[in-house]
Parts: sequence; structure tokens; C-alpha cells
Amino acid sequence: MGNGEGYGKVILFGEHFVVHGVPSIVSAIGDTTTCEVIRKQTPGWTLKDDRPATPGYKTEKLDQQKDSINRVLTAAGIDPTKTGINITFAGNLLAASGVGASAASCTALARALSDEFKLKLNDEKINEIAYEGEKGYHGTPSGIDNTAATYGGLIWFVKGSPNVMDRIKTKKPVEIVMGNTGKVADTKAAVAGVKERKDKFPGKYTMIFNEAGEVAGKARTAFEAGDMKEVGALMDRAHELLKLIEVSSNELDFLVSLAKSNGAWGAKMTGGGLGGYMVALTPGKKLQNTVAAAIEAEGFQVLKTTIGV
Ligand code: MEV
Repeated sequence: MGNGEGYGKVILFGEHFVVHGVPSIVSAIGDTTTCEVIRKQTPGWTLKDDRPATPGYKTEKLDQQKDSINRVLTAAGIDPTKTGINITFAGNLLAASGVGASAASCTALARALSDEFKLKLNDEKINEIAYEGEKGYHGTPSGIDNTAATYGGLIWFVKGSPNVMDRIKTKKPVEIVMGNTGKVADTKAAVAGVKERKDKFPGKYTMIFNEAGEVAGKARTAFEAGDMKEVGALMDRAHELLKLIEVSSNELDFLVSLAKSNGAWGAKMTGGGLGGYMVALTPGKKLQNTVAAAIEAEGFQVLKTTIGV
């Protein structure tokens, strides 16, 4: 039997823009997906998906998940026409849009295969394999989600050849609240929509993309200086930019204003958008609980965690 684990993630700055080479900031979260791989006699693979999930997520993503598993196996050098395995996913990370559920499962599977087949893969190789798996879900992923799922921590990420990945050091961990719209979103379609509009309106989009890069750069400086008020203000601006490229939704905008009106220092949609999660910066347990309670009172699920070290 082989076991593996991958972190969930929250993108704090630069989702969507990152696909086009703009700098971004992502943090792993404590919730993880685990994977168990057990060999069986007959060739081929079976799947048991025991992850907690947003209703509809598993069925809507099943085809993409199958494609992704095949890609991970191939990238790890396992031929399912010759080898038989039973794959089980579990863990406490909710299978939902916006928390890096797909990347966490790809990393967990890659690690479990490495464990079972004694492949001795290092993090760099695990990350590469998880990236191949992400293609099943995203089409053209930037690599930000699998990087967070594999390495953990708070990361400055720039897609390129090669990708840039720097660890961001913070003065202390800071509380956040994530609010789940409960809507399953198609990241592939959201990413394709941005590309289409960017090609159609190059002037407008160039200005927005440039500002998104500036916002991410300022946020890194603010994180390193421990200036959380500034980080919050930059998150607010980041949300406005994401609205301008049309990847937010009414539910996400509602959760953002709910968090803000309950004292959050900043709030934005996170991840692919069009559903999925909102993230609010809520330094201190008291503020975190207040914002979380306000979101729950409106009937939305929350996830409370910290970012930074
Ligand atoms: C999805 O979590 C993040 C996106 O930027 C897509 C990607 O970077 O691959 C929307």
C-alpha cells in the first residue's frame, strides 16, 4: 500500500493573470487530500472518492478527474494496461471549486504512487507530475495550484521558463476566512473566457493585467513588512480587477461585501471564480469568528485557517 497527501490552497493575488505570466501569491492551507494506492491482480485502476464535497462537484468533475488520473499515471511511468491499482481519495479538504481540490488530489496521487512503486520522487518531480494531472482539469494550468499543493507555505509564483517560486516570509501567521458559494465552477471555461476577452480587448486588458502585477508586487512587500492593513487594501483592489475581467459572480460579490461590512481588512474572490470561494483577511481569532459567523448566518459554509509563518 502507498500513501500520499497534497495541500489545499488559497490564491491571495493574481489568479487568472498568472496564466499569462503575471506574478501571483498563493498560500497552502492546512486542509489536505490524502490518497491510498493498493495494487490489485487485474490491470487498470479503480477509484473510490471519499473526500467531503460540495454537492454536484464529484459528478460534474468526474470526466476531468478520470483524464487527470490517467495523466498522473502516465507521467509517473505507470502503465495501467499492465498494472492494476485501487485508488482511494480522502482527507479533510472539501472537494469544491476555488480551494485547489484538483491539485491537492494530483499531488496526493503522485506521492502515493511514488510510495507504492518505490519511485523515490523528490518534490520537484512530484510537482511536475501533479502539473500534468492538472491539465485534465484546467487545460492550460499556470502551475500555481500544484506548486502550493506540493510545497506548502506562502509562495510568490511567476509562470515562465522556468517558473519562479519564492517563499514569502511573514512576521507571524494571520487568520483568514474562506466562504464557499456552494457553486461548482468550470476553471477551464473561466480561463478560456479571460483569454477570449483579452484577445478581443487588448488595450483594456493590458492595463488591467499591468495593474494586477503591480498589486501583487506591493502585496509581497506588505506581507514581508507585516503591513496587513495594506495587504487587505490590496486584496480589495485585486477583487475589483477580477470583476473587471468578468470572473466574479453575484454570490462572490455578496460574500466580499458581507465580509467587509463585518470588519474584514480585505476580501476577494479566490481561484477560478464564477463560483467557488471568497477569501477574507481577518487578523485575530475574534475578527475571524465574527466574519465566519456572519457568512454562516447567511447559509454559506466557511473554512477558517491561517496563512504565513
Ligand atoms: C485556479 O485555481 C487558478 C487560475 O489562475 C488557473 C491557473 O492558474 O491555472 C484561474
